[in-house]
Amino acid sequence: MVRIKDIKASKILNSRSDWTLSIEMLLGDGTPIRVSVPEGKSSGSHEAASVGVEEAINNIEKIILPAVRGFDVSDQPGLDRMLIRLDGTPNKSRLGANAILAVSMAAVRASALKAGVPLWQYIRGIARLESPRVRPRIFANVINGGLHAGNALDIQEYLIIPRTHNIRESVDIIHAVYHKLGTICNGKYGHSACLVGDEGGYAPALDNNLSPLSLIQSAAEGHAVDFGIDAAASNITMDKNKLLDLYRIMVDQFKLAYIEDPFQEDDFQSFTEMTAGYGDSAIITGDDLTVTNVNRMEEAWERKSVNGVIIKPNQVGTMTEAIEAVRRARDYGWSVIVSHRSGETNDDFIADFGVGVGADGIKIGAPSRGERVAKYNRLLEIG
Ligand code: PGA
Ligand code: ZN
Repeated sequence: MVRIKDIKASKILNSRSDWTLSIEMLLGDGTPIRVSVPEGKSSGSHEAASVGVEEAINNIEKIILPAVRGFDVSDQPGLDRMLIRLDGTPNKSRLGANAILAVSMAAVRASALKAGVPLWQYIRGIARLESPRVRPRIFANVINGGLHAGNALDIQEYLIIPRTHNIRESVDIIHAVYHKLGTICNGKYGHSACLVGDEGGYAPALDNNLSPLSLIQSAAEGHAVDFGIDAAASNITMDKNKLLDLYRIMVDQFKLAYIEDPFQEDDFQSFTEMTAGYGDSAIITGDDLTVTNVNRMEEAWERKSVNGVIIKPNQVGTMTEAIEAVRRARDYGWSVIVSHRSGETNDDFIADFGVGVGADGIKIGAPSRGERVAKYNRLLEIG
């Protein structure tokens, strides 16, 4: 049995140069386990609540450590239950979802190490998947807008999704299309159009929400890719009918296969209409709508609001709950897309998590910026 001996919490910089939480969990035999947590910018208001970094550090050292010292790291459900009980709030606002998640993640990483198996394989074991699934398709955000870029695009993310579950083939395609897109943007708008946004996609100074799809279409010519968007519509002020018109054109002209958060985070009804209208040809996905929360997912299920769901461990705060959300999505027959956050560190945990839970897709930004490349390279390593 491997026990938790100590936890040292500290602050490190994330990819937006904001402070974030990093911990080193020391195991009984002295093995150090490091993890750090990501942070969203277009976060949903129903996500579990993170606290400031200093407060998270204090909570880990003063409240969590005394409770988990000596705990068996391989008892993931037991540990997560204890963390949830210790917090005692419905949204983890007392201890902070960031503080809780760091400890929960570290236990998984520690157990995998001690079991002598890759992290993704250990996660597959605790997720108790019925049958081994293929690797996730990679959802690459190659043009950034919304809150993730300084341009005037309302849509937050323009995605290419290679039509393959083979990681190497997928990265080869994304790599080729990303470079071609850079050349096209440079030729059309000059070098500044190749500057990148928070998730590594280009952030050209465009204001027509359809233009990025034309650029991507040209760049992707000859490759087997689907196109998608994450509207992150809770941050869009455009009225609903204009948005609907925009989506209609996108689907008709560009055969959009993936639409995430097309409407405000509480507008289940509009999601339902969208899924009824386009759900046969596109994955209509909840992110801020569902926030990796089984109660919100249940409402979306009852109302037939989506046929796909984003899973972000830091939206819910523990590994057990994130895995439970994946299992629930499977029961509902939804596509499961595991996702990074816009504020990331070099921790590549999410790549193993996506493979481990057998996600259909994994969102890891563009193949640029160290914190995104870390996830690409980890996927390549897993193979
Ligand atoms: P966030 O964006 O990490 O800033 O929330 C990602 C997303 O909306 O999918
Ligand atoms: Zn999103």
